[in-house]
Amino acid sequence: MKRIALLTSGGDAPGMNACIRAVVRTALYYGMDVYGIERGYQGLIDDQMVHMEMRSVSDIVQRGGTKLRTARCLDMLTKDGQKRAVATLDKRGIEGLVVIGGDGSFRGAKTLSENYGIPTIGIPGTIDNDLAYTDYTLGFDTAVNTNLDIINKLRDTMTSHERISVVEVMGRHCGDIALYSGIASGAEIIVVPEIDYDMEDIVMRINRSRANGKHSNIIVVAEGVCTGDEFARKVQSITTYSVRATCIGHIQRGGSPSMSDRMLAAQFGNKAVRLLRDGIGNRVVGIHKNEIFDMDIIEAVNMKKKFNYELYETLQMISY
Ligand code: F6P
Repeated sequence: MKRIALLTSGGDAPGMNACIRAVVRTALYYGMDVYGIERGYQGLIDDQMVHMEMRSVSDIVQRGGTKLRTARCLDMLTKDGQKRAVATLDKRGIEGLVVIGGDGSFRGAKTLSENYGIPTIGIPGTIDNDLAYTDYTLGFDTAVNTNLDIINKLRDTMTSHERISVVEVMGRHCGDIALYSGIASGAEIIVVPEIDYDMEDIVMRINRSRANGKHSNIIVVAEGVCTGDEFARKVQSITTYSVRATCIGHIQRGGSPSMSDRMLAAQFGNKAVRLLRDGIGNRVVGIHKNEIFDMDIIEAVNMKKKFNYELYETLQMISY
């Protein structure tokens, strides 16, 4: 393959820029021509793209967000939108496409591969860690680290006032951000969409911790369950301790990527281009047990994410 393009799509994630850099630099290393499509699939449909040079990706490895910008594109769900996207690629002589994004973005990539024969490689870029086929997605580690900074600060003030903090984190329908943020911050309770919660048990755990000398409690609630405000109201209605709610929101989507996310970005981007260079498309790249791998895109999008119950039990055993 001599000419490829890449786009970032869906919610941005820290590490996307580092990954754009890895894709562009690997392509240039192999003497390939590479285009950066702006505003995700919308830019592909509207033929909005820039030719990427060596210096187009300078000084971005450390930056959050995505230099190519991103969008959630409803037109890509329509036949007309898909045909316009394919026409753009044909017109420009682009032979392969790299898509950095989450579940919705992968479905777009799968459609282009399956229905239009465009060799496409998906790179998992989302803070949610909700793609079943890979252990980690790009941006998850940084988002959780951002949450840890915030929860550390909340712990200080909650302990001073002997309060309960309910912290709402993102993740869409997946509880991984809450699970990892909860365990790593020493939160006493996490509430995730994958497991029904029992308010009596939560109150029992809070009371037990206070009886054992604790002066504050942190409850991490995944947005897929309900809002932090709603949950805080429920907790407040059955306890005499003072409860405060904090929604971390989009803060967890920004910021400089962590070492882990930069490493993932470099390896995912490099692998994606090597596949295209070898004429291989219709794949996604991922990481499993510390090994970078690729697999069929249709198989990957059809896999169902499994919740890590063992980690959830770990929290129950060590945080009280
Ligand atoms: O998929 C990433 C994510 O941040 C989710 O965790 C969240 O539910 C959603 O995007 C928020 O979307 P938006 O930025 O469009 O409000």
